[in-house]
Amino acid sequence: MHGVASVVLERRDRPYVEGRIRAGVLEQGTVDLLAEAGVDARLRSEGLVHHGIELALDGVRQRVDLSELTDGKSVTVYGQTEVVRDLIGARLNIGAPLLFGVDGLSVHDLDSAAPRICYRKQGRPHELACDFIAGCDGFHGACRPSIPAGALTVYERVYPFAWLGILADTPPPAKELIYARHSRGFALYSMRSPSRARCYLQCSPDEDIALWPDERLWEELQRRLGDDGNRSLKPGPVLEKSITPMRSFVAEPMRYGRLFLAGDAAHIVPPTGAKGLNLAAADVHYLAEALIAFYGNGDEARLNRYSERTLARAWKAQRFSWWMTSLLHNFAGSSAFDERVRKAELQYVLGSRAALTTLAENYVGLPF
Ligand code: DHB
Repeated sequence: MHGVASVVLERRDRPYVEGRIRAGVLEQGTVDLLAEAGVDARLRSEGLVHHGIELALDGVRQRVDLSELTDGKSVTVYGQTEVVRDLIGARLNIGAPLLFGVDGLSVHDLDSAAPRICYRKQGRPHELACDFIAGCDGFHGACRPSIPAGALTVYERVYPFAWLGILADTPPPAKELIYARHSRGFALYSMRSPSRARCYLQCSPDEDIALWPDERLWEELQRRLGDDGNRSLKPGPVLEKSITPMRSFVAEPMRYGRLFLAGDAAHIVPPTGAKGLNLAAADVHYLAEALIAFYGNGDEARLNRYSERTLARAWKAQRFSWWMTSLLHNFAGSSAFDERVRKAELQYVLGSRAALTTLAENYVGLPF
């Protein structure tokens, strides 16, 4: 939109990228960014605006009024998969280069003014001469490992559990998402549409999906989410089952020469609170602003501050995701005392307007 030419290189093919089930809660800032970029038409018509969430403790649910606690802010439930489809469609529509099925990608001369990307497409080698490289290639991508090890500091935490996620057709047991802490472990009810649910259960990182036939899944979800009198989750056809591992990870700084890392390439959050995609969108907001300033008037100040600005916000989202995760999960091997303190913390949060305000302002998203 600002006349800066770009090429997007994607390792996978289009059906894979457009079919992968990811998280589904967009902060207001993410919605605004998509609107600014003119890719919000379907989001406006199909996204579900939510003004609250429910928190459940041992099957007893309580609504948290996010809007009331944050001067009217809300979140939008709209699958990341749909965002990706919209972005791909918009890019192809304007004829901007987006190459699928790129392999053997490597980045070079990062600390020069003319970095290069080498890759193969249909077996043939190619080289792309760049002004800048945006390393938006995820945790396992090629960009971050191309930064000399001595130039990066890594902070990491791996959690002793994972999420077993399902996509299923069933009517909603509540109008909003339900985050549940239960003596048997965490559970989450989310949705993709008024008739399609996305649910998660805390499980072990090496959980065998084969041990979770649909019947067991529904029973466990019902138990942990509670039924709030008459609103219980009804079993329905399960369309997908998968395991999500949990980790916190940050690599600093997010820039090396002319390479700028964004999203999972630089930081991973555990999924509780749905910050992953929103953090990536915030990085893109800062990076786009910096590149627009550079190409507009040669101003490099924003590029120079990119890492500092984006990390300052990303660390706050790390803290929140870690806190939501700690608050709602059972930690195998932790002492009975620690478990009771964690339960008492949720009881305190549920009864304190100050604590609920802290939760709400982080959940709807901190300002850019
Ligand atoms: C979803 C995922 C999350 O991690 C979360 O906190 C809320 C919703 C989802 O997939 O819909």
